[in-house]
Amino acid sequence: KNEINIGLLGFGVVGSGVAKILHDHQDDLSYKLGVPVKIKKVLVKDTEKERDTELQRDIFTADLDEIIDDPSIDLIVEVIGGTSEAKQAIERSLLSGKGVVTANKDVMAESGLELLKLADENKSDLFYEASVGGGIPLIRTLEDGLSSDRIRALTGIVNGTTNFILTKMKHENKSYEEALAEATELGFAEADPSADVDGIDAARKMVILSSLAFSTEVRMEDVFVRGMKDIKPGDLELAEQFGYTVKLAGSAKKDDNGIEVAVEPVFLPNSHPLSSVNNEFNAVYVYGDAVGETMFYGPGAGSLPTATSVTSDIMAACRNLLLGVNGKRLHAPQHTCKVKKDSQ
Ligand code: NDP
Ligand code: HSE
Repeated sequence: KNEINIGLLGFGVVGSGVAKILHDHQDDLSYKLGVPVKIKKVLVKDTEKERDTELQRDIFTADLDEIIDDPSIDLIVEVIGGTSEAKQAIERSLLSGKGVVTANKDVMAESGLELLKLADENKSDLFYEASVGGGIPLIRTLEDGLSSDRIRALTGIVNGTTNFILTKMKHENKSYEEALAEATELGFAEADPSADVDGIDAARKMVILSSLAFSTEVRMEDVFVRGMKDIKPGDLELAEQFGYTVKLAGSAKKDDNGIEVAVEPVFLPNSHPLSSVNNEFNAVYVYGDAVGETMFYGPGAGSLPTATSVTSDIMAACRNLLLGVNGKRLHAPQHTCKVKKDSQ
């Protein structure tokens, strides 16, 4: 292969960031890989929309078939979001033997195992680093870096939008509505922001993380979820008077009784490091028997941080293609374990 061609599905907050990194870092990326990586086609809804990009206008299309059926396209990057169309696009790409990189936690939380199996069957890669923690390499950490350890628990802030809202309410006296509007404007919020504020997005991320950490199939219905909509500015002030900060936190633990996964607002002492994780930043503690306590911190949402993770997955998939080992990534088997849903 003397170049790798990408079909980019979606050119919004994340997709335009991926195009920018592939453009701005093209020399570094081809230096590292030995071949250039090019965006051959881009799927969007509205091909007439004005877009600030170096890419040629004629590569934008609203026809997915044009991309899937193009034999010169090696890799599909799915960043359209949503569930049914995105899932179908991923399935069709894998069935056609193309590798897939996705940032889609909705699809990975609901159908991740099924899609990883489909990828294996079709000798294609499926990478999803950006689905949790924006620019923080959490998936790879659980799959590789900490794979030798027995993970006991995970806890942290895994939704940027709600953390941004709580930060703005606490430190800048903004109303919930003002802060949510700002998070939406900055591209942090989901297309339907109720997924953020109701805790669903964080629950999806905890499903992905806990499934990996415990090599167990954890499903959305296993997660206890309470969002942040009932938190009032007065609650934040009261917490502050007692030296506490309110955060929307995800937690997952495994012990002899099984696995428990939850997302809910918590009071944290101001001295706790998670209390100082502000704005769209995320932080996740991972506790392992051997390693002890580790903490991973960084931007949890936004165009370039998320696109950094997507592009790292593109690099991994390109390396596999160049080595001829695409589809040979060993995914941890998912065992069954009792998953308890506590009413808390
Ligand atoms: P945006 O809404 O900004 O962009 C979506 C893009 O997909 C747009 O270019 C849109 O086209 C295109 N699109 C949507 N539906 C279709 C369709 N049916 N057919 C063709 N094109 C379509 O989303 P984001 O970039 O914010 O998010 C993308 C994904 O990344 C989501 O899964 C999200 O959860 C995930 N993610 C987002 C993060 C963030 O910080 N924003 C962080 C981590 C993950 P058009 O431009 O014409 O409207
Ligand atoms: N809406 C998500 C968040 C985007 O705010 O965390 C990153 O996954």
